[in-house]
Amino acid sequence: MKHVSNHLTWHDSHVRKEDREKLNGHRGFVLWFTGLSGSGKSTLSAALELELHKRGIKTYRLDGDNVRMGLNQNLGFSAEDRAENIRRVGEAAKLMADAGLVTLTAFISPYQQDREGVKVSLGEDVAEVFVKAPLAVCEERDPKGLYKKARAGEIRNFTGIDDPYEEPEAPDLTLDTGKDSIQKNVSVLITYLQEKGVIS
Ligand code: PPS
Repeated sequence: MKHVSNHLTWHDSHVRKEDREKLNGHRGFVLWFTGLSGSGKSTLSAALELELHKRGIKTYRLDGDNVRMGLNQNLGFSAEDRAENIRRVGEAAKLMADAGLVTLTAFISPYQQDREGVKVSLGEDVAEVFVKAPLAVCEERDPKGLYKKARAGEIRNFTGIDDPYEEPEAPDLTLDTGKDSIQKNVSVLITYLQEKGVIS
């Protein structure tokens, strides 16, 4: 549902994205991590952020659980609420990229259509990172005990159990956290950002 009024006028700032990027010495960009609960999105994005920070890159990380405690505390896990969650986070990430930050988002983002909306909105400023781990591996890890609860019927609509996860069809990067170490995957991400010209 869109409720954008016709009576709005865009105001340009005197300081533009490229001015902020010049000052920062790197591009503003979004790495969009998607994957099952327990696949390693949060762990990997946090490790990458630390490495970028050490290199003097200005960053911010948006994480599912955290954002759902604040900005998106009125949203649940129906398909409609997940879509709104991803739309809002996409818009927040867009503002952060415009502010010149390398922004890392860690959301299950299970629906292709919702991720597509983010890509359309962010254009050249986003890359989709598929954090791939078999459901059996995620369930074995079960860091928060949520799979156990979902199997017991205590949590409904849990992604991978009784709710869908649509794998990305053409992700910019696929990282296998069942096979490769965190350090290996962080180094793949750094190389990707360098090749993309986001950081040097
Ligand atoms: S989504 O699908 O992108 O809107 O989800 P997200 O905002 O990333 O939130 C996922 C985290 O919420 C917890 N949680 C659930 N996940 C999936 N399905 C259900 N029903 C659910 N209920 C609670 C869980 O801690 C998820 O965190 P991660 O880090 O993915 O494990």
